[in-house]
Amino acid sequence: MENDTNGGNILEKIVVEGKTKLKGEVTISGAKNAAVAILPATILVNGICIIENVPEISDIKAYCKILESIGVKIRKIAKNTLEIDSRNINNIEASIDLTSKFRASYYLAGALLGRCGHAIIGMPGGCKLGARPMDQHIKAFELLGATVETEQGKIEVKADKLQGNSIYLDIVSVGATINTMLAAVLADGVTTIENAAKEPHIVDLANFLNKMGANIMGAGTDRIRIQGVPELKKNDTYSVVPDQIEAGTFMLAAVATRGDVIIRNCITKHLEPITAKIVEMGAEVEDLGGDAIRVKCTNRPNKINIKTLPYPGFPTDLQPPMGVAMSIADGTSVINESIWDSRFQYTEELNRMGAKITAQGKVAFFEGVDNLIGAPVYASDLRAGAALIIAGILAEGTTQIYNVEYIDRGYENIEEKFRNLGAKIERVEEKEEG
Ligand code: UD1
Repeated sequence: MENDTNGGNILEKIVVEGKTKLKGEVTISGAKNAAVAILPATILVNGICIIENVPEISDIKAYCKILESIGVKIRKIAKNTLEIDSRNINNIEASIDLTSKFRASYYLAGALLGRCGHAIIGMPGGCKLGARPMDQHIKAFELLGATVETEQGKIEVKADKLQGNSIYLDIVSVGATINTMLAAVLADGVTTIENAAKEPHIVDLANFLNKMGANIMGAGTDRIRIQGVPELKKNDTYSVVPDQIEAGTFMLAAVATRGDVIIRNCITKHLEPITAKIVEMGAEVEDLGGDAIRVKCTNRPNKINIKTLPYPGFPTDLQPPMGVAMSIADGTSVINESIWDSRFQYTEELNRMGAKITAQGKVAFFEGVDNLIGAPVYASDLRAGAALIIAGILAEGTTQIYNVEYIDRGYENIEEKFRNLGAKIERVEEKEEG
């Protein structure tokens, strides 16, 4: 949101004219959740990294700002390609006005601790999905020999020397697994992370760090072993993995709109948890070989039940787009959300569009209706925003989606990608009388 010259607020909204069956091809961008781990991981490299396939989204812009504030030099050398020079880190503190913009800013703690033995970072922000504690990150830093203090909206981590250790995470946490990896790469000795998260972006981070000279084994399993090395100083190029969640968003958009979409630049193995469920809904999924998958849905989707789980379970980040498909499915579907406490806020917006959803705590019941009707709706978080766009595309009439800044955090060129599939979608500015 910004101010116009008369003092009123200008806000952006996405306007969708509905009743479109998506058809065509879409190319998936680099994974947000991998890129926001790899960017701070470059802090560990006393050299120059070239990172390709970096999505152009606002979380990445925010990350670049933070990295520049601690002395990292970043140059965009081509579309989606950044040259990152971390040889001269000159600051170990990142202020809260930078870190509060998004969640993954907390990876600075692990990366700066690993490289400089000291980090002071403002508390991270991010989508409001419920309580987002950091106790497992803190436990891991302490087991590696760091002291951790959290006060006045800051986390300070400090160690004279980090020593590898055996770390059992009480909860399967993506963030704690990544922060522990970042802190352990340059520590003395061996660190093992037990009950580690297995998401594709964890494997991608390990691949990046190994390419730069780290010694990490087992990423993608629940036991990661990190043999500390004295320094990472290779100059090398790395390409970020395709975004599993963006690919899943378009797969679910194809199902919900009864469309026919070819999704390119995706890793079909990462999409198996989604494929399994949409086949159950009656969609046809064809692996086209290489890096492409086709999703076609000719009939009204069948009702299904899902429970969100850490990878390789059904991803919580695709729960809202799945909720849209369920809202027009034949029969009553159930979602059991096992990761976040407040991930059903979008269901109230879908109900404004004529859906019949009852959410009770971490369970929601979706009684399928024949169709949704366009309405003004508000994105409560990034994935909820993507879900509302899909709802607008299949609904009758016009849907106006507010709070688009959430969507811009994680989807590159989302309107253009949907427009290329036939959606009638545009971004417009609206003046809010102040
Ligand atoms: C990451 C993803 C987010 C996704 C989530 C779950 C990024 C940048 N974000 O978030 O999109 O929804 O994984 O797949 O990659 N927990 C604790 N203590 C901790 C850490 C976590 O109790 O110290 C709990 C959380 O409250 C949550 C669960 O563990 O219930 C999983 O959280 P986690 O995997 O850490 O999520 P994020 O890394 O924040």
